[in-house]
Amino acid sequence: MTLPIMKYDAVIVGGGGAGLRAALQLSDAGIKTVVLSKVFPTRSHTAAAQGGISASLGNSDEDNWHWHMYDTVKGSDWLGDQDAIEFMCRQAVDAVVELEHFGMPFDRLENGKIYQRPFGGHMAEFGKKPVRRACAVADRTGHAMLHALYQRNVKANTHFLVEWMALDLIRNDNGDVVGITALEMETGDVYIIQAKAVLFATGGAGRIYQSSTNAFINTGDGIGITLRAGLPVEDMEFWQFHPTGLAGAGVLITEGVRGEGGYLLNCNGERFMERYAPTAKDLASRDVVSRAMQVEINEGRGCGKNKDYVMLKLDHLGKDVIDQRLPGIREISIQFLGIDPVKEPIPVVPTCHYMMGGIPTNYKGEVVVPRGKDMEAVVNGFYAAGECACASVHGANRLGTNSLLDLVVFGKSAGNSMIEYIKSHGNEYKELPSNAGDFTVERLNKLNARTSGESVADVRAEMQKIMQQHAGVFRTQSVLEDGIKKIKEVYKRSQNMFIKDKSKVFNTARVEALELMNTIEVAVATMICAEARKESRGAQAREDYPERNDELFMKHTLYYNDGRGLVYKEVHNTPLTVDYIKPAKRVY
Ligand code: FUM
Repeated sequence: MTLPIMKYDAVIVGGGGAGLRAALQLSDAGIKTVVLSKVFPTRSHTAAAQGGISASLGNSDEDNWHWHMYDTVKGSDWLGDQDAIEFMCRQAVDAVVELEHFGMPFDRLENGKIYQRPFGGHMAEFGKKPVRRACAVADRTGHAMLHALYQRNVKANTHFLVEWMALDLIRNDNGDVVGITALEMETGDVYIIQAKAVLFATGGAGRIYQSSTNAFINTGDGIGITLRAGLPVEDMEFWQFHPTGLAGAGVLITEGVRGEGGYLLNCNGERFMERYAPTAKDLASRDVVSRAMQVEINEGRGCGKNKDYVMLKLDHLGKDVIDQRLPGIREISIQFLGIDPVKEPIPVVPTCHYMMGGIPTNYKGEVVVPRGKDMEAVVNGFYAAGECACASVHGANRLGTNSLLDLVVFGKSAGNSMIEYIKSHGNEYKELPSNAGDFTVERLNKLNARTSGESVADVRAEMQKIMQQHAGVFRTQSVLEDGIKKIKEVYKRSQNMFIKDKSKVFNTARVEALELMNTIEVAVATMICAEARKESRGAQAREDYPERNDELFMKHTLYYNDGRGLVYKEVHNTPLTVDYIKPAKRVY
């Protein structure tokens, strides 16, 4: 053991919504908690969440959590775990009220209650008609949430290590997690952070694709670290393509635009979603809308010179509504494309937005993995929440605004589980193994020692191209088989990456290389899991297997990167208190 050691009761990796909510729970309970973040917490990717957080407050339309739960199960294409879904939807109202009390400045109705807008797949009366369920702060809801949670954490004395990157997990001989290794970017120094409990809230990995709404920091660090620690990840084949990424730039144009009354048009000026989803139309679930757009483009009804995008029309909403409810997307359209949506429609394309899979957890935020006959044995001391985790509430497809809800509900739940675990273990640190940190040092030494090899930028560009071409909106066996071969080649190349700059202080080349070692793990996992799932379900659209096959594939995929390959586990079909929502054909 050669690295210096720091000690905290609880280590939270990631300063977005889930990490901050968990940290607040812990700090408020007097647990010495540190949040480690690659960027200043209020710059985390949660800030990019625009349209809202779902909760059946019923402020504008009649609503209740049973309908929300039904929509989430249906949205997940019956791959979501119904116990976790019930837990989340039942907690939603309290979670939003709590955020309001934390100071989150929600938009208001005339009567002073929280403003709610419709969002894709959120319906009343078990799927009958759209309902206003998304609680919004204009189109900057995630940004407002982060600031409220950060300020609360400052008040609660949470410690922050900003511009720090987690590198590896430290597990003892029993497999319990007893800490992490981490890089302080400013100095280039590496530490062991010993902890009684570790939570991963490292967010998504949308940077595996060329076109993504995700921030550059979304490099799948939690997934890469988990796989390197010999643990599996779940349902990695399921990636959400958001229907409205700004064409050419990939920046998110919120679904809230369609919630406010905007709609999509093809080159004939046709409101084509009426053909694909007669009831919900433009407010069908995201996978449905993205596929419809892609079909329009593939069949020659796209817009522009290359017919490679469709139009999002919202000028009919009027300048006042746009300025009050959607100011951010007006600014984005003008800045990136010089298009003012008050006057003309915005060109949009389906763009990678969200990772439904992740580190397997139960609804308490505990990481659970196969051990012997037990498919969900708890990994002591290890927790995950938010996008990097798979609870699994989103199953094969997430509904818009359920992600911000997921962050706060499961962040808090994981925080509570950690408090219980720390207290029930006598508030003791478990001993570090004698070789703690050696694996990380070896990895870093190899990277530093290489004086020639593959460029990080080239490997990343090739990975993103392959993922875009071979694991996009529509998939087939041959495209995926080719994709596996190609991505494994890139993986091999990534083992030989080198950096010219060997300096220590704020060496962003080293950080990017370390990030890519994580991202490439996510890319390989995605391709392998997608090839193995020979059915269409939610975001996995197989042209060669167009139907959902519940008999063979109503199960979660678990992927290991160490040669163990794929293992499957049952979907939780027993909610906590209500009846099982039986599978049905998904029509909107
Ligand atoms: O469209 C949006 O505003 C995105 C929301 C979400 O992904 O939940």
